Amino acid sequence: MTDTPSVQPLRPARQFSGVVRPPGDKSISHRYAMLAALADGRSTIANFSTGADCHSTLQCVAALGARIEIGAAADATAANGDGALAITGHGRHGLHAPAAELDAGNSGSTIRMLSGILAAQPFASRISGDASLRRRPMRRILEPLSQMGAQIAAADGGRPPLAFTPVAGLRGITYQPQVASAQVKTAVLFAGLFAAGETIVAEPQPTRDHTEIALRQFGVALDFPARNRIALRPPSAELAPQQLHVPGDPSSAAFFLCAAAMLPEADLLVDQVSLNPRRSALLDVLRRMGARIGVVNIEEQNGELAGSLTARPPESGRLQGTQIAAAEAVALIDEIPILAVLATAAAGGIRFRDVAELRVKESDRIAAIAANLRRMGAECTEYPDGLDVPGPQSLHGAALDSCGDHRIAMAFSIAALTAAGDSEIHDPGCAAISFPEFFPTLARLTGD
Ligand code: S3P
Repeated sequence: MTDTPSVQPLRPARQFSGVVRPPGDKSISHRYAMLAALADGRSTIANFSTGADCHSTLQCVAALGARIEIGAAADATAANGDGALAITGHGRHGLHAPAAELDAGNSGSTIRMLSGILAAQPFASRISGDASLRRRPMRRILEPLSQMGAQIAAADGGRPPLAFTPVAGLRGITYQPQVASAQVKTAVLFAGLFAAGETIVAEPQPTRDHTEIALRQFGVALDFPARNRIALRPPSAELAPQQLHVPGDPSSAAFFLCAAAMLPEADLLVDQVSLNPRRSALLDVLRRMGARIGVVNIEEQNGELAGSLTARPPESGRLQGTQIAAAEAVALIDEIPILAVLATAAAGGIRFRDVAELRVKESDRIAAIAANLRRMGAECTEYPDGLDVPGPQSLHGAALDSCGDHRIAMAFSIAALTAAGDSEIHDPGCAAISFPEFFPTLARLTGD
């Protein structure tokens, strides 16, 4: 984050072509790091996310006693080269009390998912994060973990910091979360690794399934007794260390895929990206809007699908509008900021509904999107749980505000490429939360 200026100038794109390799997937990296810390032995993780959020997870598991080796030391024995990392855990009961409060930084995934593990420990701990994280709702994990027997104190409104009191043991529960959240599902299943009896999560809508895939990879048996129900029994054996490779992050690739769908003559190849069906709804949306999206190859790594994609604008030159709601909105939640930008280029625009969760992300993303679209001269209508972005509308260059939110910074950097006139984005450094290489990659694709 250090070498990014406090204001990033951006010009309209004269071209947009080339090959992109997105950073390792953020969601998968968090899960591999936490499970490797619980395994008995040394796991290697290649292509671990370079984002600051996953670094927060590494620091937390290191403070809990896992041994972390980064770069050359890990490379020597990792199965794959770049971005290699090795994590040595001492078994499910091998964590120790951290010397200080754990710092999850900006990362909701770190605090929520790690809470499932902290809740079960025989030692006290505290976890907090930056100002944005301290505003985010935690009751969604406090409720099920308390039902399992955990003792967790939170600040007013159920917000961080969270303080964990040691308990004699947790018990398995059947839990139906109110909000469809992979982070909540993961917190409960991770706590279930330490609980007596079976833990079942019954999801209101299917969410990303990286936790289920990773748990199986580490040797934990899961059952799926009904649609959207996941059942876990604590394993009798220790979790086995693994050799892992993280596929590229589709939510990072999304910014460039949407740019390629919008910019005339664009031609993009995205190399080595996750094609997990619960993360690839964007590809369906882009295709139905008319963009030319191709899957070049597809393979399986550690139970996860990955491959390469091509992206070009519609043959007709004009994207078609669409609607996004219900289960599709859950599947696309991290891609809504860039889709709202894409909407301005589509005949009929995009109507977004059932996305109230956006209001409690790293920023109030509905408000942040609307404010930045208006700065660029575009019309839009906000709703408590949605947004209408009419299209096509032309954008003009403007002074934009990331609101300290990585996905807003990147979405509006792409908007600036399609605008008439120059733009600048304030506080662009937050892009490093998930994608530190974003601005240099953008400059390479646009030839700037
Ligand atoms: C994530 C789940 C989603 C997503 C977040 C990462 C995960 O959050 O928005 O960026 O890795 O499980 P919710 O679980 O709050 O929906």
